[in-house]
Amino acid sequence: MRHFLTLADFSKEEILEILQIAKKLKKELKDGQYSNLLENKTLGMIFEKSSTRTRVSFEVGIHQLGGKGIFLSNNDIQLSRGEPLKDTARVLSSMVDMIMMRTFKHSSLEEFAQYSSVPVINGLTDDFHPMQLLADFFTMQECHKDKNPIVAYIGDGNNMAHSWLMLAAKLGFELRIASPKNYQVSPKILQQAQAFAKISGSKLLIMQDPKEAILNADVVTTDTWTSMGQEKDKEMRKKAFKGYCVDKALLSLAKQDSIFLHCLPAYRGEEVTQEVLEGTQSKVFLEAENRLHIQKGVMVWLHQNR
Ligand code: CP
Ligand code: NVA
Repeated sequence: MRHFLTLADFSKEEILEILQIAKKLKKELKDGQYSNLLENKTLGMIFEKSSTRTRVSFEVGIHQLGGKGIFLSNNDIQLSRGEPLKDTARVLSSMVDMIMMRTFKHSSLEEFAQYSSVPVINGLTDDFHPMQLLADFFTMQECHKDKNPIVAYIGDGNNMAHSWLMLAAKLGFELRIASPKNYQVSPKILQQAQAFAKISGSKLLIMQDPKEAILNADVVTTDTWTSMGQEKDKEMRKKAFKGYCVDKALLSLAKQDSIFLHCLPAYRGEEVTQEVLEGTQSKVFLEAENRLHIQKGVMVWLHQNR
């Protein structure tokens, strides 16, 4: 049985296989067909942080595959009253067929998975957001930006930046991450990614200058400067990230036909301008829709490889 905690646990071939399933399911859906591949299966969804896209894409996704999703908000289950993770994991996994979890510490997700007898999927932790990255690469495929692209990530060295590192390292493309000095990616995660990059031939470049990162890029992306759980540092972060807003002038340094991605929610006027987010290069709403198709691909793959 496999869990999906980070992209590090998956080979390039497996990642491409999931993307292929998602592509097939998207086409079927557009043709008005539904595959009952997860008939009578139940997905438990634990959310310790807010969500729009992740919740809806998983819940609608399992429904379209013939199964049922159960939304378990942290406030409503005994976890928030101190029931241990390991007890919750054993109880839930004795009843449902798969569990998606959005939590704070990545180690909590790992502990949960250790005690779960069914596949556990990372719906975002402080360190990683692998489901989003699969949707991002799926969008790059659809926009013909998947063959040896240069990807520029401008902003916080957070869960999105870490997941970009893993994706680039696994698939073998060039990734440049520009972040302010005290907001760079975790050295430990970078080291792990570098080890995979040696095998795939990926170039992982960490820098401070957004202009250097974006030059001739095929894909430009960013994320909020203040992730969930960091709200008290918002004002300090706004100051530290001055100069890291993806605006028209910065984007003009990328290739002319480059695309702009953002996992959303976006904060217009902070990490990206309204003009770029709503501009012709922006594929953010296709990217958001693709979360649905990817979640279905991941659930089907895990079911087939259980
Ligand atoms: N991009 C993303 O994961 O969005 P939500 O927080 O709305 O799930
Ligand atoms: N980095 C953001 C991503 C939200 C989808 C956060 O963790 O809040």
